[in-house]
Amino acid sequence: MHVTIFGTGYVGLVTGTCLADVGHDVICVDVDQAKVDGLNNGVIPIYEPGLEPMVKANHAAGRLHFTTDAPVAMGHGDIVFIAVGTPPDEDGSADLKYVLEVARTIGRHMTRPLVVVDKSTVPVGTADKVREAIAAELAARGADIAFEVASNPEFLKEGDAVNDCMRPDRIVIGASDPDAVEKLKRLYAPFNRNHDRIVVMDVRSAELTKYAANAMLAAKISFMNEIANIAEQVGADVEMVRQGIGSDPRIGWHFIYPGAGYGGSCFPKDVQALARIAQQHGVEPRLLDAVEAVNYHQKGHLFELMVRHYGGVEALRGKTVAVWGLAFKPNTDDMREASSRRLLAQLWEAGAMVRAHDPEALGETRRIFGERDDLVLCEGASEALAGADALAVVTEWKPFRSPDFERLRQTLADRVIFDGRNLYHPDEVETAGIAYYGIGRGRSVRNG
Ligand code: UDX
Repeated sequence: MHVTIFGTGYVGLVTGTCLADVGHDVICVDVDQAKVDGLNNGVIPIYEPGLEPMVKANHAAGRLHFTTDAPVAMGHGDIVFIAVGTPPDEDGSADLKYVLEVARTIGRHMTRPLVVVDKSTVPVGTADKVREAIAAELAARGADIAFEVASNPEFLKEGDAVNDCMRPDRIVIGASDPDAVEKLKRLYAPFNRNHDRIVVMDVRSAELTKYAANAMLAAKISFMNEIANIAEQVGADVEMVRQGIGSDPRIGWHFIYPGAGYGGSCFPKDVQALARIAQQHGVEPRLLDAVEAVNYHQKGHLFELMVRHYGGVEALRGKTVAVWGLAFKPNTDDMREASSRRLLAQLWEAGAMVRAHDPEALGETRRIFGERDDLVLCEGASEALAGADALAVVTEWKPFRSPDFERLRQTLADRVIFDGRNLYHPDEVETAGIAYYGIGRGRSVRNG
């Protein structure tokens, strides 16, 4: 099938590449000439495992094209995706300016009947606005061309997006027109083998499904972080509690890891956007607000543990803290809403020095914070420890999982570790002669 995708960001590029890979003929459009030139020369603007060879192979095979020319792109696809960003505006609502700009472009340049598909995460009711924007442009041209607007949310995880796209656990199609549903089913048929993963529903339910999925996952994390905070105070170990509840299939093992809070481009933004949607429709989002509030607090928890250990914020002045992990999760260089950003800000505010290491995100950290006297970026994990008083672990990268605790004891002047992802066993650390603080590990508070 012929497909046009507006937006070569994360979602647009991964989706376009995967659709081309199963044999569809795909044109990706972007307003950014440099990005399009890069893609046409094999330069992939994001780091995502497995994506680069796929882009190159499908581009070379003539199934994946990149252009800034909207009229040409509109002459290509029978299905046109909108996959542009929806950044939060001042009150946390999703800003639709890019989505509606694309809708107007579609209306200006469409020449034949189309299915327009919203892939961006958009508030419930956006499909109606997209439909109105396209219709207004058609009317202005005096054109009368039939089109349908459908919703088809993505469920891609950073670091695993190609796999999520090629092997989806569900494909949500929100559309009321049977022909549009049929077309989208045909488009996704290559991804729908062995058993049926396609769930067809009305447009608004599809729009809400995306927010519900992310809010549910975020709620699980905030719930566990709250249990962790209780565990810490009552002298229990949340890691034991986690193992004690995960085997119940109604609860499940996924997304019950307590830690230094969730970050990234989706959870924080989508939880807030869903809360605003609720309010705009007269529903008080009590739970969603709590999910967000717990996460905000949790991002400051590691620092609270430091203050507790040192007996006051003043004692942190002049200390040097090694920070392992800056990205919001492993296997990405993405620092959006990363917990490390709060920790660094709090440490600097307290007058501490930071020696930070991350396997991928040093460049991003430099871009965000620039050169500062109180920040040293280190290429290696052990380099970050040199001259440090304490160690804080913020992202659970694999290479941080089993450090040499004997060396840590010799290197860290204050012999203390603040483990924001519960990577270590408190006994192992304490046996090595190092004080240990994890998330929700009440026993270490008792001993500490
Ligand atoms: C998420 C969703 O998983 C994906 O389906 C959606 O399409 C986009 O948002 P992503 O933001 O890439 O994907 O990251 P994810 O792996 O879900 O992690 C999000 C954050 O939650 C990370 O900061 C991670 O450290 C944190 N997290 C995750 C926890 O603190 N505990 C957990 O148990 C799981």
